Amino acid sequence: MERRKVTIPDIVEKKKKGRKTTMLTAYDYPTALLVDRAEIDMILVGDSLGMVVLGYETTVSVTMDEMIHHTKAVVRGTRFALVVGDMPFMSYNTCQKDAIINAGRFIKEGGADAVKLEGGTSMATTVQAIVRAGIPVMGHIGLTPQTISQLGGFRVQGRNAEAARKIIDDAKALEEAGAFSIVLEAVPGGIAGRITKSVSIPTIGIGAGIECDGQVLVYQDMIGLFDRFVPKFVKQYSQVGEVMLSSFKQFKEEVEKEIFPGEEHTFSIEQKELEKI
Ligand code: KIV
Repeated sequence: MERRKVTIPDIVEKKKKGRKTTMLTAYDYPTALLVDRAEIDMILVGDSLGMVVLGYETTVSVTMDEMIHHTKAVVRGTRFALVVGDMPFMSYNTCQKDAIINAGRFIKEGGADAVKLEGGTSMATTVQAIVRAGIPVMGHIGLTPQTISQLGGFRVQGRNAEAARKIIDDAKALEEAGAFSIVLEAVPGGIAGRITKSVSIPTIGIGAGIECDGQVLVYQDMIGLFDRFVPKFVKQYSQVGEVMLSSFKQFKEEVEKEIFPGEEHTFSIEQKELEKI
C-alpha cells in the first residue's frame, strides 16, 4: 500500500484495531528525515529540547520562539509522520486566549499537525478551548516535567490508590475535553493499563509499561546521545554518542599527524597553471 501522511483519525483508529502507535522526538531536519524514514507514526517536537539539545537544567526555560524554530526544521524533514509541537511552560497556563494563540503559532508558523500540553483535570477547559479553535491536542499526565518542583523531582507518579485515582480522573477529563491521545509518563504499568482500558483515545506511554496503546521515547536517550541521566524506562538501542566521540578523536589525531586530508579529499590544479602564478 502506498504510504501517505498519518492523520489524527489514523492514530485513533489504531487503538480500535488493537495496533500499537509509535512516537519519537526530533528537534531538527536530519533527525526528522530519519525518524520519518523509519515509518514512525508521530514525531514529537518535545520541550525536552531544552535539556537534550539546548543544555538547560529543566524544560521550564524553553520559549515559544525556540519551539517554533525547531518545529519548522522538523516539519521540513517530515513527509508522512504526524508532527506534534509541545507547548512550553507558561505558553498555555496563563489564560485560554494565550493558549489558543500559542497553539495556533505551532500550526500556522511551525507547520505542526497538533500540539501537546501537560496537565489533566486542571487543564481540561484549556484543552477544550484549543480543540474548539480547530487544533488537535495531545494530553500529557503522570510525571509532568514542567511542574517538576511541585511533584518533588523526576519520580514515578500514582504509586498509591489516591494518586492513581487522580491520574485516572485526569485521563478521563482529557478525553471529555476532546484530546485525541494522552501521553502517560512514569506511572506504574498497572495504572497505565487501567487508564488505557477506560478511555477511547490512545495512550502513549513513556515509562508506563506495555499495556499503553503506543510508546514514545526521547531519541537521544534511546541512541545513547544524552548521558546526564538515563531513566530506568529507557532502552538504549545504540551508543551513537560513543561513535561520534571516537570519530571526533580520530579526526583530531589524523589532522595532528597530517593523515587528513589525503589526496582524495584535496582539489587539484594542473602543474602548468600553478607555474603561471
Ligand atoms: O518533551 C518531551 O520530549 C516529552 C516526552 C517525554 C513525552 O514530553
